[in-house]
Amino acid sequence: MTNLIFLGIVSDMHITIIGTGFVGVVSAAVFAKLGNTVTGLDIDENRIKALQKGKVPFYEPDLEKLLVTTQKKGNLSFTTSYEEAIPRADIIMIAVGTPSKKSGEADLRYLMSSIDSITPLFKEKVIIAIKSTVPPGTCDVVEGHIHSILKDKKIKLKKFSVVSLPEFLKEGTAVHDTLHPDRILIGASDPKVIATLKKLHAPLKAPAIVMSPKSAQMSKYTANAYLATRISFINQIADLCEKNGANITEVIKAIGADTRIGEHYWYPGLGYGGSCFPKDVKELASYAKEVGLRDNLLIPIDKLNDERISKLMTRFEERVGGWKKKKVAVLGLAFKPNTDDMREAASTKIVPRLIEEGAIVRAYDPMATESARTWFESAGIKEGDAFQIVSTVNRAVQDADIVCVVVEWDELRHLDLKKISKLLSKKAFFIDMRSQYARDKVESFGVSYIGIGV
Ligand code: UGA
Repeated sequence: MTNLIFLGIVSDMHITIIGTGFVGVVSAAVFAKLGNTVTGLDIDENRIKALQKGKVPFYEPDLEKLLVTTQKKGNLSFTTSYEEAIPRADIIMIAVGTPSKKSGEADLRYLMSSIDSITPLFKEKVIIAIKSTVPPGTCDVVEGHIHSILKDKKIKLKKFSVVSLPEFLKEGTAVHDTLHPDRILIGASDPKVIATLKKLHAPLKAPAIVMSPKSAQMSKYTANAYLATRISFINQIADLCEKNGANITEVIKAIGADTRIGEHYWYPGLGYGGSCFPKDVKELASYAKEVGLRDNLLIPIDKLNDERISKLMTRFEERVGGWKKKKVAVLGLAFKPNTDDMREAASTKIVPRLIEEGAIVRAYDPMATESARTWFESAGIKEGDAFQIVSTVNRAVQDADIVCVVVEWDELRHLDLKKISKLLSKKAFFIDMRSQYARDKVESFGVSYIGIGV
């Protein structure tokens, strides 16, 4: 920050961000750090009270520190009041949730209700930037909705712009990703609006790519759909490797050396989870069906991912000789490392299946203990003899017949195999669901190794 001010490259706009989920809170803290006056707005009073005290209601590395420093400096505040936060905003960013409906289609109800609330209050020439992932064409729908509200409420027509400003941050590295983006994507057509948004992002020193709102929204879906497809693809190749004795890790090394392909974002495993890929692929697949493109690739990709864990669990079950009465240590409960987010986490499918099959489960996660407890309780899975969330790896693996490494947290990638093997029952299995361990090493401790794609 000091360096940015020194170089004279701060931006100083009034920004209100609606929605204090991952994207909202991280964007609020980062734009405040860049020198803007930012207000985070949410209708959830408890969440706002916590944020006002500098408490982030989820785990995200570096975020709390940034939140506290920017609040202390007076650049960041939180409120539940539209009346307070909207009239002063030069830019209103919308970062509310857009969950999928049962049909797969995006549910825009939270977006639309935030538009209802801001329309009577926003000032002339405000920029309304949609950060939430929404279908192409949503900016036009929002614009039409604003016009009809203004007309209904007999409010003098105000000038405003609705633009698309998609976000590409990843949970677990969200602050870093927002401060060091690969690109800034601006979906807008008015040159003045484009210039303002470029100025706002200038301190981040990332290339700004400008296009129509529809192309920007389609680009956001495409990026996620491509990455999800890449994961499904490598999982399919991993399955083939298992059939013929090839090793997926070696195959990835070979194909990754081709610069067109690259080595990153290829690790095979349980399929993709989290709050974005499953939802976004479903939405694009549902859109493809709606417009008559029933042979669109994303339709089978979505199905493959939905079925992946169940198929793998059947495969593992055969290898370990059934789950019934087996003590199983489940290591890793969040959907990925460095987060406590349980949305579409592999554990939410693995644990219920194990319990249903009669296993005795001891689960552990370095960070997601509380969020996992809440998730399992709300799914009707109570802790008791058959299922317990414990506070250390050692407790989870004590007397276990099977160890499942479900998430590649650092702690779980570097397990002390020698120590663990002594705690396990005789003839135990080690299921490496994220391909983090070498078979030889695990088996040198007298434990049978089961991997994916090896
Ligand atoms: C994803 C995208 O990576 C972000 O660019 C995007 O901004 C975000 O969605 C969003 O739309 O908001 P995120 O869901 O945080 O970010 O997580 P990722 O790290 O991309 O992982 C998604 C899932 O894919 C996880 O379940 C992960 O375990 C899985 N994955 C990832 C693999 O199975 N293999 C890989 O090689 C990489």
